[in-house]
Amino acid sequence: MKAAILIIALFGAVFCKEKIYFKEEFGDDFADRWVESTAKGAEQGKFVSSAGKFYGDAEKDKGIQTSQDARFYGLSAKFDKFSNEGKTLVIQFTVKHEQNIDCGGGYAKIFSSDLEQTNMHGDSPYLIMFGPDICGPGTKKVHVIFNYKGKNLLIKKDIRCKDDVYTHLYTLIVKPDNTYIVKIDNEKVESGELEADWDFLPPKKIKDPEAKKPEDWDERENIDDPEDKKPEDYDKPEHIADPDAKKPDDWDDEMDGEWEPPMIDNPEYKGEWKPKQIPNPDYKGKWVHPEIDNPEYTADDELYKYTDIGAIGFDLWQVKSGTIFDNVLITDSESYAEEYGNETWGQTKEPEKKMKEKQDEEESKKREEEEKKQKEEDDAKKDDDEEEEDKEEEEDKEEKEDHDEL
Ligand SMILES: *[C@@H]1O[C@H](CO)[C@@H](O)[C@H](O)[C@H]1NC(C)=O
Repeated sequence: MKAAILIIALFGAVFCKEKIYFKEEFGDDFADRWVESTAKGAEQGKFVSSAGKFYGDAEKDKGIQTSQDARFYGLSAKFDKFSNEGKTLVIQFTVKHEQNIDCGGGYAKIFSSDLEQTNMHGDSPYLIMFGPDICGPGTKKVHVIFNYKGKNLLIKKDIRCKDDVYTHLYTLIVKPDNTYIVKIDNEKVESGELEADWDFLPPKKIKDPEAKKPEDWDERENIDDPEDKKPEDYDKPEHIADPDAKKPDDWDDEMDGEWEPPMIDNPEYKGEWKPKQIPNPDYKGKWVHPEIDNPEYTADDELYKYTDIGAIGFDLWQVKSGTIFDNVLITDSESYAEEYGNETWGQTKEPEKKMKEKQDEEESKKREEEEKKQKEEDDAKKDDDEEEEDKEEEEDKEEKEDHDEL
């Protein structure tokens, strides 16, 4: 029994071994594997290898950093092409906007193997686009775009991205049962069915165009009570001529026109009469438009599937540069991706934060000291000035005295 379990466990280990299609940690030699696009000419910005101004580990945290403001960025790498048919697909990477980004993309694109790398640009057809996008306070979202039959489909849910200066781990998991999960920092932030959350397919059901609400369909829940009659004393005007008003003695009909008494509120006015409401005996409820199967709908149980996945690229526009991408992983294993996330981002996030906080502290201390020094200098100068003024006054006095002596 024990032996059997062991054998099963061993087989499991062999057959469950994850497949790593692509992994990149961006050492100094990243340019050997990544190709720069020249599509934007002089407007193309440079990615440099850097761990940034603060980090958890000077070597491990080296990624590619956007280095020039207001530029396009295009960098891509190819790998052995594969199909995710029948398998989970995981796309994962870290993004750090240490520049406190105001506007710029932080997403990756997955391409088929025929990507023209040196000419990669915004319109190069891709399969999946995934990752954060920030522009002003209005746009702070995680894009998940799937290309389906030539169309780029945006997710219909709103997933908020991180907008601080620290490194964050972004993970997209697409499963062969046509479900997906989005994780940030190894925590699920969104999940669901592909068909429900993107417009891959037209709706399954539509309103029957043949169906019409019958003419005699009574949707009134309540009606006027036919028994209820307006009381006699209701028909009174809202305003009446003031019975106390008198035509002034000096009124001249010829000069002033015909005299009319001023109007006042009628004390007998009872407002507008409305009949009592009773339940409508013919009420049929609200008419519901019957639905039929949409003739345009064809089910597709392979929405998740791409037959040729062969490249990944960063194709971005950034106003304020400084974003660092790192720890790129494409695999078929959700648990390996989580483990790898733990080993990379998970290991360096705390020391990174500590270093940043220490830098902030030192900076504010330095600023305080400078302010203090400045103040001391200002005060000293003021004292000098006052002394000088005193001296001048004294000199003036002396001069005056000298004068008087003369
Ligand atoms: C990753 O780290 C979290 C938090 O420490 C832990 O709960 C989880 O089990 C880890 N996952 C893997 C696959 O190692």
